[in-house]
Amino acid sequence: MPPALHFDKGLANTIAAETSLSFIDGEKGVLEYVGIDIDSLARHSTFEETTFLLWHRRLPTSQELGEFERELHACAPLPPGVIDLLRGFPRSAPPMHALRTLVSALGLYDPESDDPSAEANARKAMRLVARTPGLIAAFDRHRKGKPIVQADPTTSIARDFLRMLNGVDPTPAMAHALDICLVLHADHGLNASTFGARVTIATLSDMYSAMATAVGTLKGPLHGGANEGVMHMLAEIGSVERVDAYVQDKLARKDKVMGFGHRVYKAYDPRATYLKTFAEKIAADTGNEKLYEMSKRIEAIMHDAVAAKGIYPNVDFYSATTYASLGLDLDLFTCLFAMSRMAGWTGHCIEQLDGNRLIRPHAEYTGPHGVPYVPVSDR
Ligand code: SDX
Repeated sequence: MPPALHFDKGLANTIAAETSLSFIDGEKGVLEYVGIDIDSLARHSTFEETTFLLWHRRLPTSQELGEFERELHACAPLPPGVIDLLRGFPRSAPPMHALRTLVSALGLYDPESDDPSAEANARKAMRLVARTPGLIAAFDRHRKGKPIVQADPTTSIARDFLRMLNGVDPTPAMAHALDICLVLHADHGLNASTFGARVTIATLSDMYSAMATAVGTLKGPLHGGANEGVMHMLAEIGSVERVDAYVQDKLARKDKVMGFGHRVYKAYDPRATYLKTFAEKIAADTGNEKLYEMSKRIEAIMHDAVAAKGIYPNVDFYSATTYASLGLDLDLFTCLFAMSRMAGWTGHCIEQLDGNRLIRPHAEYTGPHGVPYVPVSDR
């Protein structure tokens, strides 16, 4: 007798995988990477160290971290063929479309792209995490008609991304701010884009195909695209005085307010807790106080209106103010999310292959049966 099937729309109540990368307690607002709470990692870790933690399930020794950073950063320079390719992209292309294409193109220049061994996948994960920042920066320089800045394999991912993007070294404070954002976004259980990556790799397809799936999935405004949606909302509102009417109108129309709500968190997203204090400081340091004040007012209105339904700010709400304060173009925000989550996506793919089973759920058929075929001449 086959096991009973049940329909779970959106898989909201389904456990579809086991993972030891990150743990979320949605009721208590807890996020841990391999058992270490996200607040400790944001205060003390770096993106490189967090990537090691996610891939190796433990923190590195000082010597291991140094070796890992050197190996990771050495992978950063882009294959020349990829740069040639992106020079042909339309300058008007949305950056997430460009990134989805470029992540896929990286596979064309990786001789190990179809090597399924754990060792080759580990090396591909390094290349993908190390090169994604350069892909984003190179496309942005191309679309602005500026010379492309090649990666400096001797410096941190956060610092070098801002250098490649802006053509000048960032301040240590800016580089540190971005590094913390990368730590906060690196992994988050079986979110839609991670699930998509696992579905792809579970067919024994390759890592680059899985990452193309993940980037394309993250792009959606219900997922990683929400940080750009928050910025559009702040621009549309324009001032603190207009917040109340705007939010109340959106709620009255049952529109979703970007940056709020979460499938798992029914409490404050712990990443938002950190990003809120961070956004306040960096907005003040960069003269963007209005963005923070508007965000704070939106949060207050939403709290009164929907906190009882378990709708709180999520990771995207205050990251928008942070990224804007870092001087990043609005349409690069989701690319930043992808740059960080590349660490989690690749880690989950490697985990999926350890004891892999094809991911193939059922669908409830709702169409007709026994329909006769009518020749086209009789239709
Ligand atoms: C990320 O999964 C992850 O871990 C994702 C992520 C990660 O790190 O990978 O955390 C990153 O994607 C964060 C979420 C970013 N998305 C947004 O900010 C978009 C806005 N949020 C919503 O679209 C929504 O909250 C979702 C999509 C995030 C979750 O939606 P669910 O779980 O499917 O819940 P739902 O849409 O069925 O809403 C339940 C109720 C509804 O009201 P009722 O019909 O029951 O009266 O809550 C309401 C919704 O209308 N609601 C909202 C709301 N989100 C839910 N109302 C207003 N504004 C919102 N943002």
